[in-house]
Amino acid sequence: MSKVQAGSRLSSIKPFKAMQVLRRAGELESQGFEVIHMEVGEPSFSTPAPIVAAGQTALARGQTKYTDARGIVKLRKAISDYYRDDYGLDISEERIFVTSGGSGALLLSTALLLNPGESIIMGDPGYPCNRHFMTVFSGSATLVPVGPTENYQLNETLLNANWQESTRGVLLASPANPTGAVVDENELASMSSFICKKNGYLISDEIYHGLVYTDDAKNSALNICADAFVVNSFSKYFGMTGWRLGWLIVPTWAVNEVEKLAQNLFICPSTIAQHAAVAAFSPAARDIMESQRESLCARRDFLLPALRELGFSIPREPDGAFYIYAGIPEGFSDSETFTNSLLENHHVAITPGTDFGNYLANRHVRFTYTSEIDQLREAVDRLSRAMQTSEF
Ligand SMILES: Cc1ncc(COP(=O)(O)O)c(C=O)c1O
Repeated sequence: MSKVQAGSRLSSIKPFKAMQVLRRAGELESQGFEVIHMEVGEPSFSTPAPIVAAGQTALARGQTKYTDARGIVKLRKAISDYYRDDYGLDISEERIFVTSGGSGALLLSTALLLNPGESIIMGDPGYPCNRHFMTVFSGSATLVPVGPTENYQLNETLLNANWQESTRGVLLASPANPTGAVVDENELASMSSFICKKNGYLISDEIYHGLVYTDDAKNSALNICADAFVVNSFSKYFGMTGWRLGWLIVPTWAVNEVEKLAQNLFICPSTIAQHAAVAAFSPAARDIMESQRESLCARRDFLLPALRELGFSIPREPDGAFYIYAGIPEGFSDSETFTNSLLENHHVAITPGTDFGNYLANRHVRFTYTSEIDQLREAVDRLSRAMQTSEF
């Protein structure tokens, strides 16, 4: 083997396409073009002021050293209180690990649970990085197609049909990326007991919790399955994408093992971000987040009918997150050609369906509706003009 060759696992790790589009959009911006960003999953709002102020105070106080690998006690306590107040759950701080984004939490749970050759079941379409995390640990993702009939979520029948000898567990995300679909509570309960019967693990990615536009009660997988691994993040609802902070809740048996992994993989999460995030649970910050949630709902309500009007197929209204996963109208090109052409010629950045898996991926694109409504309106005008040309 040549010395300059990357490890063999790299051949099955694909680029994160939304980030590739962001990169190209940045190049176009540096050439003076005004790009409308609908590619990355990031709210347009700045981080709420009370969080920023707490970060500034931490810096001024010199709180810039390493922390306990599990995160600072004050923040783990604040997260524990959040589960008590918002979910009616008693989660001890011992079970909470503050991580480098939800990404760090997904990486830790994969490193903990997956043996080489084993697999985790996940829905297709789904968040792209998860299948690559499995590859990093010499396992694989079993991608199960989910469409509008299943509300883009797994269910017990699908788990039963796809469970194999090598299956270690199931990764659910609700609300989901890219579809915004929220898992039905009864389905979650039956999947949870099925997974228990199989001696498997449930990993529940709840990073879009708080961004749901229905009146349904907010429930964690932990309300149904006490042993679930729960991934959450300060990125989305709390508006802290660039601070790189999230958390992982683990069952008691896993605490010491995850601590070892966290120490070795990350040493600790960002200290300044941790001190800032304590303020994310203050009533003042929560009020800001609630009004941002309402703005996002209004943005969804603007974009959804506008896309349908242009002929995109969106069979189910997305109930949460900030994405619309849309079928490209008949007669137009495949998703990568479509997104490239839209970006290069009309400066609207969206993500091709091929980022999210294989199932009908070539015929879908994902729109993020985190920009302000006048920006979304401009994007729809550009899209409409683009679709009248022959370049697609
Ligand atoms: C479903 C899902 N999980 C995890 C992540 C990771 O986010 P972060 O590391 O910023 O918390 C994302 C990011 O978009 C996501 O959509």
